Amino acid sequence: MIFSVVALLPFARFVAGATYQRTDNIVGSGFQSAFSYEAIPDPTHGRVNYVNAQTAASQNLTFASANSFVLRADSRTVLNPSGPGRNSIRLKSNKQFTTAVTIFDVKHMPQGCGTWPALWTVGADWPNQGEVDILEGVNDQGPNQATLHTNAGCTMPASRSQTGTALINNCDVAATGNSGCGVRMNDARSYGPTFNSNGGGWFAMERTNSFIKVWFWPRSGGVPSDVSAGGTSVNTDSWGTPVANFPSTSCPISSKFGRHNIIINLTFCGDWAGAVYGSSGCPSSCVDFVNNNPSAFTNAYFEFNALRVYQ
Ligand SMILES: *[C@@H]1O[C@H](CO)[C@@H](O)[C@H](O)[C@H]1NC(C)=O
Ligand SMILES: *[C@@H]1O[C@H](CO)[C@@H](O)[C@H](O)[C@H]1NC(C)=O
Repeated sequence: MIFSVVALLPFARFVAGATYQRTDNIVGSGFQSAFSYEAIPDPTHGRVNYVNAQTAASQNLTFASANSFVLRADSRTVLNPSGPGRNSIRLKSNKQFTTAVTIFDVKHMPQGCGTWPALWTVGADWPNQGEVDILEGVNDQGPNQATLHTNAGCTMPASRSQTGTALINNCDVAATGNSGCGVRMNDARSYGPTFNSNGGGWFAMERTNSFIKVWFWPRSGGVPSDVSAGGTSVNTDSWGTPVANFPSTSCPISSKFGRHNIIINLTFCGDWAGAVYGSSGCPSSCVDFVNNNPSAFTNAYFEFNALRVYQ
C-alpha cells in the first residue's frame, strides 16, 4: 500500500495542474472595497447615467448585507427625454488579473425590456488587451452568451469541445462590427427571467495561456461541489466540458489578453439592446420605454452571493 501511494504521487502532482488556490473571496460589503464606482459615459451609448458611490448609497442602488450584495437601476424616476439616462451602476475591480479562475455566484440578474447587463473582464487600450464577456444579453432574450473581443489575429476553430453554439468564429472587433466571437449557451436557465425564477446559478471563467473557458451551472443542479462550496481551492479538471471553449490554436491568448479588471455593469438600450429592441417583443421604443416606465425596472438588479477568484 505504502509503495503504491508513493508511486502515484508524481502522477497526482501532474493532474493537479488545474488546481487553483483562492486569492479573493468577495462577499457582502466586500464588493464595496474590492470595486470602484465608475460614473462615466457609456461607450456603447446606452440610456444610462452611471452614478458614483455617494449617489448609489443615498438612492440605495447598491446595498450590502452580511451575505449578499445588490446592485440595481433606479426604478422610481420618470426621465426627462432631454436629460440624462436612467441611474445605474458600473463597478470596476480594483485588482487586475491575468491567468485565473473567476466564479460569480449570482442569485438574481437584471431583467426587463431595455436592460443590457454584463459581467465581464477587460484590459486597458480596448480592444488591444482583449475583453471576455462572461454573462451578457439584452431585453430578456436569453440564453446567455460568452464572447471574446480582440484586435486582429484571433480566430476560433469551427470545431471545439464545448456544449454551447458558436455564433461567429472571428474575435476581431474590427472584422465583426464589434460582435466578437460569441458562444450561446443552450440553456434557458442561463439568462433573464428563467435564470431568476430558478434561483440563479454560477458562472465561471478559467483563463490560461492555452485557452479561455466559461461554464454555467443553474442553481437547481449539476454544480461541482468545489464551486458551490466556495472553499479555498478548485480543480477545473473535474468540471466537465465547458459551455464555451476558446483555445489558443489560432489566437495567441497571452498576447491578445493583458491584465484585466472585472466589470459589473447594467446599461439600457445603446448599441446592442437598442438595436435589437424592435424585434424583441418589447413595447414602444427602447428609449421611450426606459424614460417613461420606472416601475418596469423593479427587477433590474443583480444580487450576488459571492465573487471568488482563484489563481
Ligand atoms: C457595459 O457592458 C457592455 C457589455 O459588455 C459593454 O459593451 C459596455 O461598454 C459597458 N458600458 C460601460 C459604460 O461600461
Ligand atoms: C435597500 O435595498 C435593500 C435590498 O433590496 C433592501 O433590503 C433595503 O430595505 C433597502 N433600504 C431602504 C432604506 O430602502
